[in-house]
Amino acid sequence: MTETLLSIRDLEVSYGAVQVLFGINLEVHAGEIVCIIGPNGAGKSTVIKAVIGLVAAEKGKIVFDGQSITNFPAHEIPALGITYVPQGRIVFATMTVADNLEMGAFLQRDARKRREAVQAVFEQFPRLYERRHQPAGKLSGGEQQMLAIGRALMMNPRLVILDEPSLGLSPKYVDLIFEQLIELKRQGRTLLMVEQNAARALELSDRGYALELGHNRFADTGAKLLANDDVRHMYLGGA
Ligand SMILES: Nc1ncnc2c1ncn2[C@@H]1O[C@H](COP(=O)(O)OP(=O)(O)OP(=O)(O)O)[C@@H](O)[C@H]1O
Ligand SMILES: [Mg+2]
Repeated sequence: MTETLLSIRDLEVSYGAVQVLFGINLEVHAGEIVCIIGPNGAGKSTVIKAVIGLVAAEKGKIVFDGQSITNFPAHEIPALGITYVPQGRIVFATMTVADNLEMGAFLQRDARKRREAVQAVFEQFPRLYERRHQPAGKLSGGEQQMLAIGRALMMNPRLVILDEPSLGLSPKYVDLIFEQLIELKRQGRTLLMVEQNAARALELSDRGYALELGHNRFADTGAKLLANDDVRHMYLGGA
C-alpha cells in the first residue's frame, strides 16, 4: 500500500484567454520519484505552478496529504511541507552558500535547528561545505543547482518539486545531480520533477507522465515508458 501524497484531478489552467492545460491527472505516492516529460510548451511547468499556487486552477482539484490545496496562495505552500526548486538554479548571488541555505529554513524559528539542517545539507553535498563562505554567485552552474536543491531540503519537506534540475549542466554535473536525487529517494523523500532529459529522468523515476499540448498522453512506470516504442519515438528522439 502506498500513500497518495499528491493528487491532481482534471486540472485546467489558462493564461489570459489561452487555455494551456486541459484536464491533467497526476498522482505522487509517498517515497516515489515521479517525472513529467514532454516537449517545450506541453504545460509541464504550468502543472507544477498550479500545485504551488503560482498559477490559478480554473477547474479541477489538487489534494496534498488528504487536504485540498486547490488555489492555495503560494506563501502557504512551504508550511504544508512542499518545497520547490525553480528552473534555472535561482540562488541569492551575493549571499554566502551557508546563508543561502539558512534562507531555506525561513519558517524555522529555532536557530539551533536551522544550523542542524544546514549541517545535514553539508553532509549530503560536501562540495557546498567546502564553498560555504563563498558568495553563491561565484559557484559553478552545477554547484548552484546543488545549492538550490539543498535549500529546498532545509525545511525537511514531504514533497520536493524540481523544474528541470539538469537543464544547462555539463554531463558530469547532470550525473551528480541525478545521483543526488536517487540518494534523496533512498532517504525516504518524495520527488516530483519536470525534465527535458526524458530518458535519464525515466531511468530513475518510479513513474512518469508524458504530456502533449496540455493533455496527458502516457502514464506508466519509468521502465515501461522507456520500453514503449511510441514514447521513444515521440519523447526520446526515436532512440
Ligand atoms: N506566463 C505566461 N503567460 C502566457 N503564456 C504562458 C505563460 N507561461 C507559459 N505560457 C504558455 O503556456 C504553455 C505551457 O507552458 P509551460 O511553461 O507550462 O510549458 P513547459 O512544458 O514547461 O515548456 P518548457 O519545456 O519550454 O519549459 C506554452 O504554450 C507557454 O507559451
Ligand atoms: Mg518548463
